[in-house]
Amino acid sequence: MALSNLHWQTKFFWNGRTATLEEQAIIPIEDPLEMNLSIQEAVARLQADPTYPKLFESAFGSKEVTPDYIGKALGQFERTLISANSKFDKWIRNEVKLTDEEALGLELFFTHPEPSIQLRGGNCADCHLGFLTSGDPIGFTGFHNNGLDPDIKLKNGLMSVTGNAFDKGKFKPLVYETSPSQLPTCTMDASTL
Ligand code: HEC
Repeated sequence: MALSNLHWQTKFFWNGRTATLEEQAIIPIEDPLEMNLSIQEAVARLQADPTYPKLFESAFGSKEVTPDYIGKALGQFERTLISANSKFDKWIRNEVKLTDEEALGLELFFTHPEPSIQLRGGNCADCHLGFLTSGDPIGFTGFHNNGLDPDIKLKNGLMSVTGNAFDKGKFKPLVYETSPSQLPTCTMDASTL
């Protein structure tokens, strides 16, 4: 999952299992499918490094490396990863014009279809809403089942966090960084969740 613009998000990982970047930053270090390193070992390696203890001292006032400080340092770094200069961002700021094709893509992306008046639309922004196109940031309301998998194949997703069967197969929508007219459709197989 892209790490950009996380400063404005309140739930992390595909299934939203942490509420702060500080908690989120530690989990991939220990996860057997990611870095598979115990946090104690990570602390020991950083403590033994010639450079890091000094950097921890200037950031936190102590040369002692702790899991808490590692989480804080990584969380602060992640907050600096801001993407705000795509053509879509520039269009929002009224700095560029979209080509005809891009304008059609944007309209398709943001239009909710309404069969009763024969209005066709891609329906994308029902889930990928807001400037970040990453869904509603309040609580878990921004999590969705994108409808591509049959019920029998649904992964747990948000249900593994809330324990609510209604949340099975719901995941966090992505933050886009390109013009919506260039977007493919949802294809992500969040098979590890
Ligand atoms: C019902 C909610 C919903 C709708 C409608 C929806 N999406 Fe998504 N989309 C998601 C969720 C949730 C994810 C992340 C998890 C996943 O892929 O299942 C996602 C992921 C994506 C991704 C990332 C795929 C990847 O491989 O990383 C793209 C691109 C995307 N959507 C584009 C679109 C487009 C274009 C439309 C409209 C045609 C659309 N989405 C409509 C919920 C939705």
